[in-house]
Formats: sequence, C-alpha cells, structure tokens
Amino acid sequence: LGYAIDLEDELVSTNARSKELARQGGVHGQIVLAKHQSAGRGRLQRQWESPRGGLWMSVLLRPNLSLADASKLTLAASVAIVDALRELFQLSIGIKWPNDLIFNGQKIAGILGEVVGEWNAVQTLILGIGINANFPREQLNTSLNATTLHEILGYEVNLNVLAAGILKHLENQVISLEKKAFEELRSNWSERALGLGEEVRILRGEQVFQGIFKGISIDGELILETEDGEKIFTAGEVQLRSK
Ligand code: BTN
Repeated sequence: LGYAIDLEDELVSTNARSKELARQGGVHGQIVLAKHQSAGRGRLQRQWESPRGGLWMSVLLRPNLSLADASKLTLAASVAIVDALRELFQLSIGIKWPNDLIFNGQKIAGILGEVVGEWNAVQTLILGIGINANFPREQLNTSLNATTLHEILGYEVNLNVLAAGILKHLENQVISLEKKAFEELRSNWSERALGLGEEVRILRGEQVFQGIFKGISIDGELILETEDGEKIFTAGEVQLRSK
C-alpha cells in the first residue's frame, strides 16, 4: 500500500478525492493525504474536524474480497492503527465499536469506510483514517471528548513515519483477510476492544438500548444481550460504563 501518493495542502475531504481517483481507475493501495480538510467527514453523517497537524489519509483498496467483507476491512484498519501506535509510541489504545480509537476514555482517531460504486464490479473501498496528531486538544470542539498524540506524548510526531507504520500494519491485515483469516481478525479485534462482556448502551438514532456487549459477529456486527433477548447492531454509537 502507498506506492501511489497524492499529497495536498488542503482538500474538502481525502475520502471524496480518493473516490474521484477510484472512478478514474485509481490503483489498489493508492493513498491521498491532506494537511488540512475543510469539510472532513465522520461516521453517521457527522463532520470531522481536521486542523493542520493531524494525519488525514484515505487508502483506496481493491482487495480480493466481496462486498460482504467490506466491514471487515474497517475492523482490520482499527486493529492496524492500534498496533502501529503501540509499535511507534508504546501507547495502549482500545477500540470502541465499531472503529473508534480511544486512549484513556478519549478519542484519538477514527475510521470511515466507504464503498465506491458497485463493489461487485469494481471492488473498491475507501478507508478514511483520521488521527489527531500534532495539535493541542483545545483546537477541537470541546464537547468532543477527544485527545491528540501531541497532548499525550508532549512532542510532535513525524506524520510520515506514522502513515508508514499504519500502512505497514494495514497491508498485513488486508493480505490476511484475502486469505480468509476472518476468525483471526475477530479475535484480534476483540482482544483490543473496550467494554466487551460489560454493560453498555447503544444509541441508534433516537433509540437507546441497554445490555451486555457479548461480542461481534464475523462481519463485525455488535451483539447485545438485552432483557428482551439478543440484538444485533450494524450501526450505532456505543456508550461505555467505564469511561
Ligand atoms: C469517525 O470516527 O467518525 C470517522 C472519522 C474519519 C475521518 C477521516 S480523516 C481522513 C478521511 N477523510 C474524511 O473526510 N474522513 C476520513
């Protein structure tokens, strides 16, 4: 991954640019980086604040997998980021379902996977990765309960090294998924997950569900044991008890 690189000063969203590249025949592993995004996008139609100093990157993937496996790639990306941050900075990061990266209860990174066009025809997934790196937390909306690498480490990290570390781990994850190591991914993800086996709340639109977070299905859906039986979630926001 990362043999073709598009590095820009400012983009609306690296995911949007990466989608354009995909339609123009972009290659597997092509990456787009921007120093700053004017309208970065997050999960659940949210906006994603992207000041200078962060790592804002999209990876175009045309893996040997089917559409049904797209969600597994975003799970794999969260595992890759946890491993890269551990390897580079000895940080212990947890994953909040489905793919928020959390340090001490605060969000440090997020992932937005988007399928382009008809996956069956072109097999393209854009993996957008946002890491709060070299800027003070005060630059983000205070309601966000987020943190940054700079805040935690007290120094500026090298964004090239960070991107390379993530791509190395991501590449290995993609290769292992192409070999159908789905069970291995589920156990790797679960080992790094927050709130497993604990009581959690799931917010989905206006609805709130409470129960025990039993685990994830092989496709990465969340399994919640509630008073009314088992419920399966493909999207939503998890609230952990222990923050
Ligand atoms: C989330 O946690 O809600 C996902 C955030 C994903 C942000 C990244 S930054 C690079 C890429 N471009 C975007 O517009 N979004 C993703």
